[in-house]
Amino acid sequence: MLNGKNILLGVTGGIAAYKTTFLVRLLIKAGARVRVILTERAGDFVSPLTLATLSKNPVLTSFVNEKEESTDWNNHVELGLWADLMLIAPATANTLSKMANGTCDNLLLAAYLSAKCPVFFAPAMDLDMYKHPSSTTSFEKLQSYGNVMIPATSGELASGLQGEGRMAEPEDIVIFVKNHLSEGLILSGKKVLITGGPTHEAIDPVRYIGNRASGQMGFELAKTAVDLGAEVILVSGPTHCTVDHESILLQKVISAEEMYQAVHEHYPDADIVICAAAVADYRPKSAADQKIKKNEAALSLELVKTKDILLSLGKLKKKQYLVGFALETENELENAKSKLKRKHLDAIVLNSLNDTGAGFGTPTNKITFLDKNSAIIPFELKEKAEVAKDIFSEIIARYHA
Ligand code: CTP
Repeated sequence: MLNGKNILLGVTGGIAAYKTTFLVRLLIKAGARVRVILTERAGDFVSPLTLATLSKNPVLTSFVNEKEESTDWNNHVELGLWADLMLIAPATANTLSKMANGTCDNLLLAAYLSAKCPVFFAPAMDLDMYKHPSSTTSFEKLQSYGNVMIPATSGELASGLQGEGRMAEPEDIVIFVKNHLSEGLILSGKKVLITGGPTHEAIDPVRYIGNRASGQMGFELAKTAVDLGAEVILVSGPTHCTVDHESILLQKVISAEEMYQAVHEHYPDADIVICAAAVADYRPKSAADQKIKKNEAALSLELVKTKDILLSLGKLKKKQYLVGFALETENELENAKSKLKRKHLDAIVLNSLNDTGAGFGTPTNKITFLDKNSAIIPFELKEKAEVAKDIFSEIIARYHA
């Protein structure tokens, strides 16, 4: 949710400012780019050097950099436009009152007034200040401007008193912001289960039966689902693809049987399920315990069918919107339609090996989306990331929770 986002963090002069070191770390860890503006007094509570080091950007305090002979001007308009999100934490009573009334006597306030992005503020003050009608008025006014308040919590305050007014903990601020941002997304609150990659079926401890699937399609589908607000479980066979996103649970498996078990564990809770894995259809009846020696002129392997994961999901289907893949070399449409029916699917994504750039081991794919109501929607050859977006827009157009 915060990956790649530009976050402008405004820190004002309260004791909770020391906690912004943790906040900056969490934001950076979530993949955000962070720039910090301190008010003059905030620097008494937290070191600008610490925040500059953690945010990997110089910390800004005034309109003009204080270095001698500096002609650099910290352009608040540019900062306001740069930000995808502005967060003021801790927000003191003084700064909140100024924000509410349009006072503009420091860089933070000028950037606030220039910001076009969503603005969040996390008040921090002593309990009587927090309850004072003028603070309440500031909170209400700011919320009426569309700013989002991250309420203070109760506990021991710096004054030694107990009560409401503690800035929300950095972890909770990050969760709050993420939840708020995801609320408007179309797959927010939905669980998407995806299979991807090949499976490897062991012959002996060093050899296996596999296929050329790269796994990229499944990973692109997972990333797209997360961008749409979903929580994703990606069950993937062996692949070089990687993903590091807290909304993607990556469950690595090797064989078709392991994939079957993992998928069924998550299936009951899933809302949308896409089986993009190239599951081996057959496996050796038994894997040798030791490496097979080349003593014989010929070697026969007895193969048995693996469980058809997609078919088993189709049979159990309740609320899930179930999508399969079909990789075909002949009678493409007919084969895809019959798989869609036989496996009780809601839709199937067809790719033909006859199309250059489609299918396995390529960064591109050319698909046709077919649904159970006989719709057939062909797409151009595209990068797999774009293909994943096309697939989700077709699913979303049909999926009704
Ligand atoms: N699939 C699966 N488990 C298997 C085999 C396939 O879940 N053991 C899924 C794939 O992930 C894909 C779909 O079934 O979504 C189509 O797989 P494919 O191998 O093309 O179809 P099959 O039904 O196995 O038919 P055939 O191999 O005869 O073309």
